[in-house]
Amino acid sequence: MRILGVETTCDETSVAIVENGQEVLYEFTLSQAKKHSRYGGVVPELAAREHVKNLQGLLPELIEVVDKYNPHAVAVAAKIGLPPAVKTGEAFARGLAAGLGVELIEVNHVIAHIWGVWLEPSIKPKPQFPLLGVIVSGGHTMIIRFKSPTEFEVLGTTEDDAIGEVFDKVARELGLGYPGGPKIETLAKLGDEFAIELPIPLADVKDIRLSFAGLKTATINLYRNLCQKTYKEYKEFLKQDVAASFQRVAFLHLIANVEKAIEKTGLHTVVLGGGVSANQRLIDLLAQRLDPAKVQLYIPPLRYTGDNAALIAGYAYAMSNYQDVVT
Ligand code: KG4
Ligand code: ZN
Repeated sequence: MRILGVETTCDETSVAIVENGQEVLYEFTLSQAKKHSRYGGVVPELAAREHVKNLQGLLPELIEVVDKYNPHAVAVAAKIGLPPAVKTGEAFARGLAAGLGVELIEVNHVIAHIWGVWLEPSIKPKPQFPLLGVIVSGGHTMIIRFKSPTEFEVLGTTEDDAIGEVFDKVARELGLGYPGGPKIETLAKLGDEFAIELPIPLADVKDIRLSFAGLKTATINLYRNLCQKTYKEYKEFLKQDVAASFQRVAFLHLIANVEKAIEKTGLHTVVLGGGVSANQRLIDLLAQRLDPAKVQLYIPPLRYTGDNAALIAGYAYAMSNYQDVVT
């Protein structure tokens, strides 16, 4: 079964066709990040206008692709995103489904973030349900117990800012631009993770609880303070140390909660997804902290960490054909 996916929830315009939830036959993904960078974040109305422009530009190619692959259904990222941006994709997908005379499947794009691992052919065998999903993106931070792709329970979600959002805000303060996550990661490689003392949020709490706003404020305040006391020629080093220390603490807080979720559920399969899972330091820290003899950790391919229509099409298949995709 071939599903054509459409994703426009944020600043990626993406259309893909995926066979049986796993084989990506076609993919078009265009990032608008450069258009938004001057504003320090995604501007919803601008994102919507760009999606319309990009989708219109894609139409001639898409007509040929649809002719070639004959999709059996159209799936659209219809939930949780910037409303004006989501609506452009919805309208486009609805039109496509009607034109092709096929079913339209609405997908929650946040949940679909776990599907990256299933799109990578080299990851074999695929994770088995039940499992823990860890979704770390610009809008969400969630630890989820999945009984199956569609039966799940959110064990913990951020009480304030999402982890990616906090990376973006700290990056903005350091003058690094948008999107901040990859820029923090690059800068952090040059810094000392232990140079700046930042408390791990909710370190003494036993329950699964995620919160990143306090860490963001502490990092920004500390940086401003230290900046005043630092000679101009040393400011670059200060930024590197702040980036490295902040990144480490943010990840340790997340990982502490993943450990609590493993303990609570007894599940030992952990699947990572979302834009922040592109971060190699996160992957390394997870591999260090979670005992590989006990925990099977699945990392998505870089290409499918962020928003992408292949995730939408793949997960849409899993929503109705769970038994086919679990092995
Ligand atoms: O999943 P995604 O593409 O979009 C949302 O659904 O939000 O995630 C985007 C987020 C941004 O906050 C971006 O800064 C962050 O993912 N991100 C990273 C890295 N690459 C992207 N954060 C940390 N390290 C990275 N390498
Ligand atoms: Zn997303």
